[in-house]
Amino acid sequence: MGRLIVVSNRVPVPKPGTPPAGGLAVALSGAMQSRGGVWFGWSGDTAAADAPEPAAPRTLKSGSVTYALVDLKERDLDDYYAGFSNRMLWPLFHYRMDLTEFTRVTLGGYYRVNGLFSRLIAPMAEPDDVIWVHDYHLIPLAAELRAAGLRNRMGFFLHIPFPPPDILTVLPNHADIVRGLAAYDVVGFQTPLDVENFETYLRREKVGRRMSDGRYVVHGRAIRVEALPVGIETQTFAETAKASERNALVRRMEESMIGRRLIIGVDRLDYSKGIAERIQAFETFLTLDDHWRGKCTYLQITPKSRSEVAEYAAMEREVAELAGRVNGKHADLDWTPIRYVNRTIGRNALAGLYRMAAVGLVTPLRDGMNLVAKEYVAAQDPEDPGVLLLSRFAGAAFELADGAMLTNPYDIDGTAGALARALVMPLDERLDRWRRMYERIRVHDVAWWCRSFLEALENDAPKAAAAK
Ligand code: UDP
Ligand code: G6P
Repeated sequence: MGRLIVVSNRVPVPKPGTPPAGGLAVALSGAMQSRGGVWFGWSGDTAAADAPEPAAPRTLKSGSVTYALVDLKERDLDDYYAGFSNRMLWPLFHYRMDLTEFTRVTLGGYYRVNGLFSRLIAPMAEPDDVIWVHDYHLIPLAAELRAAGLRNRMGFFLHIPFPPPDILTVLPNHADIVRGLAAYDVVGFQTPLDVENFETYLRREKVGRRMSDGRYVVHGRAIRVEALPVGIETQTFAETAKASERNALVRRMEESMIGRRLIIGVDRLDYSKGIAERIQAFETFLTLDDHWRGKCTYLQITPKSRSEVAEYAAMEREVAELAGRVNGKHADLDWTPIRYVNRTIGRNALAGLYRMAAVGLVTPLRDGMNLVAKEYVAAQDPEDPGVLLLSRFAGAAFELADGAMLTNPYDIDGTAGALARALVMPLDERLDRWRRMYERIRVHDVAWWCRSFLEALENDAPKAAAAK
């Protein structure tokens, strides 16, 4: 096999002091460092409006990975990234039809940038290189590359949910998007539900079906479709958490928490994460039982995200106001119930904070996977683990259902009650639940995910879906 060329919009070029936030970047960084290859994508910088199209990407080598980067123009970012990707595909694929905005202009930008990526990748690719494209920004890329004459093996992994057909067909160009997927050899989804939604779409729209050998024929092309849940570097993360006692930030936090239990939430500031509902559930919990006043702290770490998109800017204000209101109402002179932090926390400190927390609150309204859930489990002390409260609408719930306390984030009272139960759960039950979850993420870690996807891409025989 030739080189691996990974393509994603966001490329976490290693810079000291800036940890990658976002599941895709975190998952792939680990996998790429150990496997090596070329990682192509947006540099994170903008090009001048009148700059000519570059003849080749800028390259930068770090360890075994060569980063191949392209600057994008402001207009391209507005249309392709903030526009079609994040105001149409992201909300729609997270079941939020109410937040979508479709315009021909942003759609044009989406195809324009996919075309640009294709023109830069095509001359770089050797015939035996394997091309692995990631996420909703780049669905049409394989079709563009094939139109440019490439016959390489190409795979696509969708990190976010694939919605049911009634939702997907709200997208005026849904047929083109699915035709774009058909240009890959392997399409990977996070969970069996996503595969089911895809299959139902094919049947209803009469554009494809599952064949007897397990492959799918879509728009006349035979492709493989798999549920392959993305994992984390479980063992490394567990070791980091164990060693985190020496981390200065973790030590400071520990000192400020003496005599109190810690409840933790870690999410990009995104409406899919259910942060406002979670704060409301925490407030309800405080009013349920006086006993916990002054005896627990809820730490919500929430780096800002996509602030150029109007819905995100509105949400920044809303959540900050809500956290402020709950604190104003319930705080005491020596106790603040919610610590709301708007910056990105590095992975070492994060691991230590997870380990310190008696409860991990992971309650998205909808999430492709949610790596925070897996990180929380990996970071626990095997002799005294905390409890994971997990939304049934997170992809991670498919794998962690028999160990986590599953919640419905729309049910504020129910989530508050579950939090109260989690805080008093006896050690033997906590151990039993944690061991099941840890075993799952130990075996199905990020290396397993990467290997399974690439095997599917390289081999002909169909493989069984790996998720339970
Ligand atoms: N993350 C981080 N520092 C932060 C906040 C988040 O390193 O301050 C990481 C987090 O540990 C996780 C990733 O960002 O690995 C978020 O991935 P997840 O799948 O939970 O959600 P996404 O952001 O991809 O929707
Ligand atoms: C999710 C998406 C990724 C994205 C990340 C951060 O994990 O699946 O594709 O990179 O969020 O979002 P951003 O827009 O900052 O890249």
